[in-house]
Amino acid sequence: MSTYHIQTYGCQMNYSDTERMESYLQALGYDKAPSFEEADLIMFNTCSIRQSAEDRVYGHMRTIEQMRRQHKKITVVITGCMVRKSSSRYSSERDKLFNTTRELDIALRTEELPKLAALARELDPESKIPEIKEESLEDYFKISPTHSSHQSKAQAFVAISNGCDKFCTYCIVPYSRGREKSRDIQEILKECTQLVENGCKEITLIGQTVNSYGLSQYDKEEKTFEFLGEKEPFIYLLEEIDKLHTKGLVRLSFTSSHPKDMSDQLIEAMANLKTIMPYLHLPVQAGDNRTLKRMNRTYTVEHYRKIIEKLRKAIPGISISTDIIVGFCGETDEEFENTYKFFDEMDFEHGYISQYSERTGTTAARFIKDDISEAVKQERWNKLNDNLLRQKSKKAHERFLGKTVQVLVESQEGKKCLGRSEHFKTVQFQSGRKLLGEIVPVKITKAMEWILEGELV
Ligand code: SAH
Ligand code: SF4
Ligand code: F3S
Repeated sequence: MSTYHIQTYGCQMNYSDTERMESYLQALGYDKAPSFEEADLIMFNTCSIRQSAEDRVYGHMRTIEQMRRQHKKITVVITGCMVRKSSSRYSSERDKLFNTTRELDIALRTEELPKLAALARELDPESKIPEIKEESLEDYFKISPTHSSHQSKAQAFVAISNGCDKFCTYCIVPYSRGREKSRDIQEILKECTQLVENGCKEITLIGQTVNSYGLSQYDKEEKTFEFLGEKEPFIYLLEEIDKLHTKGLVRLSFTSSHPKDMSDQLIEAMANLKTIMPYLHLPVQAGDNRTLKRMNRTYTVEHYRKIIEKLRKAIPGISISTDIIVGFCGETDEEFENTYKFFDEMDFEHGYISQYSERTGTTAARFIKDDISEAVKQERWNKLNDNLLRQKSKKAHERFLGKTVQVLVESQEGKKCLGRSEHFKTVQFQSGRKLLGEIVPVKITKAMEWILEGELV
């Protein structure tokens, strides 16, 4: 029996894709290998968002080279956001990755996962990879995921769309994942229902910009969502999934959202749903209109501020996190100061701060100069990340001191339990009971920068 190992990098979307890749490989007759070193097929599910993410994969290629020197026969597949052209070592038109690493056998675009069997046969005509003629394995979104990203079946990621049409000037995603396509609504609902019937309590809907679900150019051309009339497809989807609370669904959340598609109707709908978590990740990227314009973010600071005000009014106590890029092309000291001040004003409870990394092929790489020095990027990152973000995160944690929160236990080692509260805060506590996958009340006794500590009530 041949075995596989998948090494996953990047965002939740990639982790969710890995779950589909596992199902597909198992259908081809592969078993999960106990470790990287013991696998016959090693797949790298890659991220391309920053150069540092790509470099991690190249680091692994040296290990592969050593394994091969020890005469181990392995097939090496690179998939995910680094791949542009699905191809094998012997294809006439190959992905550019074949020029950068000699260890590569197959390059595979994520949504072309069903091509893997044919490419493996092209690589080794003697291989015993079976021909699969199952409809469920021919379309990427129809491949049912293994849901193995979480330790318990109480939590699951459900992908609702793939690709992106927004073309922010710095971002590689529209090139790596292609045009935005929404997944069939009935299939999403079927997957969610099955998950909940099987004990799932928390569903996270994922996609590049989930709140544009059903609104992409592709969706419009396909007319898939016409039956909804004026109703926003994403709201309809949330309301339908919310009905699963009668079957045991407790929490529903989604990531990432784009401010442009954060409509008043959506905010109102969120306030009325039973299962929506009081938490939203809404990347702003910059707090200065000139920077936002160069980034092609298509909204202003004023518009973003209004969204946050409405959200806080509709869902009191909602916890909001964001993404920021520092050192984007042409970012002046004044622009950065505005971003800093905006972060402070918005009272973001958490955030991912990135230093701008130029990505070949993007509009920024082609037309705007990456003119901020590494030293300045680092300095701005330190200021925002090590100073303001820490303060904000601690302050947000302190509001829970002495309060009892509901924690879904995500991991348990001995007595140490770790989980998330309804506001998406990481909570640690001790218990001798087996609590993995349970939602339990915990009284918060200590508020630290990145974590809360408490006692089981
Ligand atoms: N679709 C999401 C973001 C996905 S990428 C959205 O639009 O909000 C995740 C984060 O990576 C982005 O929010 C951005 O902050 C960061 N990022 C994207 N491209 C980058 C680049 N070229 N350099 C540095 N950070 C980048
Ligand atoms: Fe990238 Fe912008 Fe699309 Fe997000 S919305 S994935 S940042 S292009
Ligand atoms: Fe990375 Fe692709 Fe996600 S570039 S952040 S893995 S969409």
